[in-house]
Amino acid sequence: MLWLVNKFRDSAFGLPLCNGRFTVSLLRPRDLWQVAWLERQNFPEPLSFWKLLCLWLQPATTYLALKEGGRLAAYIGFQAYGPMAHTISMCVAPAYRRRGLGKFIQQAADQVAVRRGLRWFCGEVRVSNAAQLKMLSELGWQKVGVVPRFFANGEDAVFVLGWLEGRR
Ligand SMILES: CC(C)(COP(=O)(O)OP(=O)(O)OC[C@H]1O[C@@H](n2cnc3c(N)ncnc32)[C@H](O)[C@@H]1OP(=O)(O)O)[C@@H](O)C(=O)NCCC(=O)NCCS
Repeated sequence: MLWLVNKFRDSAFGLPLCNGRFTVSLLRPRDLWQVAWLERQNFPEPLSFWKLLCLWLQPATTYLALKEGGRLAAYIGFQAYGPMAHTISMCVAPAYRRRGLGKFIQQAADQVAVRRGLRWFCGEVRVSNAAQLKMLSELGWQKVGVVPRFFANGEDAVFVLGWLEGRR
């Protein structure tokens, strides 16, 4: 049951992290309603509240919330597979974009992944998602290759990877 306790134990991962009036901490189940809303507003293939809850409950999953007061400004979810962290999805609410918060929550996720003993981060990004590709490139991520027709609507994915080595 320690894995379940750890889903609420910010201090185990060096959280919360603060950036001005924004705070990153472990995402609580009650925040999943806001995550589901942001998924619906921002993704062609959104995750429902119930799917998000199933993911959140898995021991391998970490969700982080970036908040201003009680309001969810951004989130990121990832899963651990062996030495690898794999992004489920991340989103910054439209009103909060281009303020460095996408980078900030990804860096917080890197920190948590390192504390979980993980060695690299990876994910699949739509080829049309110039914003995410640019942000990750500025964080030092590499484009490994293109996966044809990865997404349900037939769009290709760029497989991207960010090393966590040397961050301990
Ligand atoms: C991609 C996303 C997470 C970026 O979040 P953000 O908080 O706006 O990103 P940052 O402010 O940290 O931006 C860092 C850099 O990324 C690049 N960038 C971010 N948004 C960009 C855009 N719309 N166009 C071009 N470059 C962009 C810029 O170089 C930016 O630096 P700058 O603002 O100094 O020019 C956000 O646009 C988003 O949530 N999009 C919808 C959901 C999504 O696509 N998620 C990723 C796939 S799971």
